[in-house]
Amino acid sequence: MRIDILTLFPHMFSGPFDESIVKRAIDNDIVNIVLHNLRDWGLGKHKTVDDYPFGGGSGMVMKPEPLFEAVETIKAQDSDSSAPVILLTPQGRLFNQKIAAELAKNSRLIFVCGHYEGVDERVREHLATDEISIGDYVLTGGELAAMVVIDAVIRQLPGVLGSEESASDESHAAGLLEYPQYTRPQSYRGWEVPQVLISGNHAQIAKWRREQSILRTFMRRPDLLDKANLSAQERKSVAKGAVTRFD
Ligand code: ADE
Repeated sequence: MRIDILTLFPHMFSGPFDESIVKRAIDNDIVNIVLHNLRDWGLGKHKTVDDYPFGGGSGMVMKPEPLFEAVETIKAQDSDSSAPVILLTPQGRLFNQKIAAELAKNSRLIFVCGHYEGVDERVREHLATDEISIGDYVLTGGELAAMVVIDAVIRQLPGVLGSEESASDESHAAGLLEYPQYTRPQSYRGWEVPQVLISGNHAQIAKWRREQSILRTFMRRPDLLDKANLSAQERKSVAKGAVTRFD
């Protein structure tokens, strides 16, 4: 996968992409991340990228020309010119694991990081093919949001996670939160690891984990349960649990 990032602050990306699993994916040529400084497409002597909003108001708006010209130049650098152009914005669709998996199917992605008060509306209308928000809060710019999205996408790519880091059981994989995990020591400050996990009974362990996943999702994120992949029996247990819990 090739990932192009358009930003006014390319240095912000150094840390997160230089460590751990993402670094390994880059080193193994599974992903190629290409950073572009939007300032290079700025206008005039001062390389201007922003301007005052028409109609007045506070803050600056990112001008359309540098963004359009940057995306057009970048697209022409690769034969796959159908890549999604993703604008990071608090007004976008709310990012989740399903969107990460969907994005991971592309051979190329282009991310546009907005800054200041926002971007000229024509960028949304005629340049971006997707708009993503990472949550209902406002960041100082799209850079941190792009890093979050890119990290989640990269770990979905085939060959990125080793078998010991398998993504199949983790939170949100089946629309549920993950079950509790324990490692050694078996007893720590008097807090014991659940007996079932040291029983060696794999069927019982799987059953316990499944129940814990459902219970945990019910307690912490009941909003996820509607869409989760539950059997009829599991749905019945949840409904019964709900009665006990709220009575
Ligand atoms: N830019 C500023 N805030 C953002 C958010 N919550 N998600 C994506 N991009 C943003």
